Amino acid sequence: MKKLLILIIGLMLSSLLSAQIYKNPSIPVKDRVEDLLKRMTLDEKIGQMNQFLGLEYLKTNRANLDKGDAKNKNENVFYPHTPIAQIETWTKQGIIGSYLMVFTAEEANHLQRLAMQSRLGIPLLFGIDAIHGNAMCDNMTTYPSNINAGCSFDPELTYRIARETAEEMVTVGMRWAFNPNVEVARDARWGRVGETFGEDPYLVSVMGEQIVKGLQRNLDQPTDVLACIKHFVAGSQPLNGKNVSPADISERTLREVFFPPFKTSIDARAATLMVAHNEVNGIPCHTNKWLMQDILRKEWKWPGFIVSDWMDLEHIWEVHKTAPNMKEAFRQAINAGIDMHMQGIHWQEMVSQLVEEGKISEERINQSVRRILTTKFQLGLFEKPYTDEKLRKKICQSQQHLNTALQAAREGIVLLKNQNQTLPIQESKYKKILVTGVNANSQNILGDWSNWMGDKTSTVLKGLKEIAPNTQFLFADQGNNPRYMKQENIDKAVEMAKECDLNIIVAGEYMPRSDWNNRTDGENLDRSDINLVGLQEQLIQKLHATGKPTILVLINGRPLSTEWATEHIPAIIEAFAPGIQGGKAIAEIIYGKVNPSAKLAITIPRNTGQIVKVYNEKPAAAFHPFTLTQDTPLYPFGYGLSYTQFKCSDITLSSREINANGELQATINLTNTGDREGTEIVQLYIRDCYSNVSRPVKELKDFMRVSLQPGETKTLTFTLPAHKLAYYNEDMEWTVEPGEFEIMIGSSSADEDLIKKTFLVK
Ligand code: BGC
Repeated sequence: MKKLLILIIGLMLSSLLSAQIYKNPSIPVKDRVEDLLKRMTLDEKIGQMNQFLGLEYLKTNRANLDKGDAKNKNENVFYPHTPIAQIETWTKQGIIGSYLMVFTAEEANHLQRLAMQSRLGIPLLFGIDAIHGNAMCDNMTTYPSNINAGCSFDPELTYRIARETAEEMVTVGMRWAFNPNVEVARDARWGRVGETFGEDPYLVSVMGEQIVKGLQRNLDQPTDVLACIKHFVAGSQPLNGKNVSPADISERTLREVFFPPFKTSIDARAATLMVAHNEVNGIPCHTNKWLMQDILRKEWKWPGFIVSDWMDLEHIWEVHKTAPNMKEAFRQAINAGIDMHMQGIHWQEMVSQLVEEGKISEERINQSVRRILTTKFQLGLFEKPYTDEKLRKKICQSQQHLNTALQAAREGIVLLKNQNQTLPIQESKYKKILVTGVNANSQNILGDWSNWMGDKTSTVLKGLKEIAPNTQFLFADQGNNPRYMKQENIDKAVEMAKECDLNIIVAGEYMPRSDWNNRTDGENLDRSDINLVGLQEQLIQKLHATGKPTILVLINGRPLSTEWATEHIPAIIEAFAPGIQGGKAIAEIIYGKVNPSAKLAITIPRNTGQIVKVYNEKPAAAFHPFTLTQDTPLYPFGYGLSYTQFKCSDITLSSREINANGELQATINLTNTGDREGTEIVQLYIRDCYSNVSRPVKELKDFMRVSLQPGETKTLTFTLPAHKLAYYNEDMEWTVEPGEFEIMIGSSSADEDLIKKTFLVK
């Protein structure tokens, strides 16, 4: 009897213990994953690999569809004939692993409750496009866009933005940011330039790394969220600058230009990666074994999980036409390395069939599921699947976050031109100012990937009124979309200018997602030219003709060609999309409360024909200049003015010769020669003077942000390890080649802004 009792207790204990392995947080993640995997049916595994759209998003979308607003097929035909209740049932059955486009804690909790009712109680992972703040959700802090962060050259600040973004994300249950976009933007026609950190592989790498670290930290705290580096790869130099269009790019250029930011983020332990819409050299990225297996898994030894981009598995069949049907597209993608499908209803059925037919092995499925479950365990979702719905009010748009957004705007706005010290202006000098242009009083200042937020946004007009309360600002409304500008409004502005003593024109592009089909800049908004849209140029010319001093402010994502304005308008500010505090920061710069310090993270081409115009071009690119137009860019990479002047001098090197595994110290003196305090971004470039394979005329290798009082001089020392000189030689070996190199230090990538010295690598 006693023995029987012991046996029964033993059996009960062991079954209790075995039931608890994957639920027991004190057991290592790896073991929990294996335990859970063993318990899962094939259906449950396949479901973990699938993502769905949030239910509220679907409902709104369907309502729009009912209204007949069905222009964009991809946007509006989600899940036909599938009632919302069906998706809820699938969630309860544990065959949905993740959701996107969920924007409230209430909805996230609702879905999570359904998932917790499933047989194994595997929590959902919510992903969101928190690109510059968690700005797709209401009442969040919209930080300046990534291109502004690039222009700030401030890695610490970029880290802080990512950290605060993560804190705001978790208040709505989001633990996975589809950020950072670490694509190297090389074509200004492409609509997504504004969500990148610009054109330089090194700068993009530095900023991407900070975002990954800021979002994730060690992935062991409640506010740590997964980063998703995207889009792998080369979609930022697509044919004709069009999103999704093919990229025909050599392996050398992939490795030298487009891969480095991904590799740096992977070294910083980025947990997930999103694949690019486009094909590379004929093979869609989503079926590209070379990219997903050879590079990511074998060469870089990356353990994270790969998510497809939006419906891009379907696009293998429908767009690239490298699969004759959707099922075959899924087969190709999974076998090539995709772990999660963004998003849709056909996955479950088709992938089950593919496994049953032996076209995909269950071990391949297990591989993906392991990777996905690992992140869910790491994030602690099994222990804490729900979100405190009251948290949002405490955390989001806190004063601290708004201050960060303001600082980021101040540091990310570039002063392009300032003839005869037009700027800063004195409040005492200009009593009545005309403010006009499509972006003068528009929330468009928030940029792509954000919701408009009513009163909370500091538009330029609002900012001006706040900073100069005793000035009379006459606002000449031009609407907020340059596509629909009206002649009569321009004429009215010209009339009003007569009674004013200064004109401020805020021009640029139109980016709100809420007006999807009318935008001019942002995702899928590629242009065949980069001129000012609509009647904006006319507005600028006519106001200039009034003879009143005129200031031009630009709000946009992509670089804009403003050749006429550059020649005629005395002061130009490129603000890109400076976010919720953007208007205030612009006004502070106009009135000199803030001394601008940002430098262009991307070249501004003179005209569309110059594209691709990048600073790190190859030497022969400049051999024959264009015949009828100037060959130089309108504004070069790394360029930006301050209200004070800086001088770099006395470059000295620690040695004239280094070993291929050595390092070099380069020292310069930086002096503030002007009469106010300011911050300079000192840039260090190198050039391999003669090489077996042609090398860029310059490559950024380091930079420093340095603040100086008037008259102050600081001695700055850069350390250049020789490995930063390496490149792929003729045999595609990563090598530091012996020979002469030039080191260039200064205030922009333009030759006239750099002081130089040469050295030898032995
Ligand atoms: C974009 C991705 C984004 C996804 C989800 C796609 O269209 O390319 O960057 O993360 O949509 O919104």
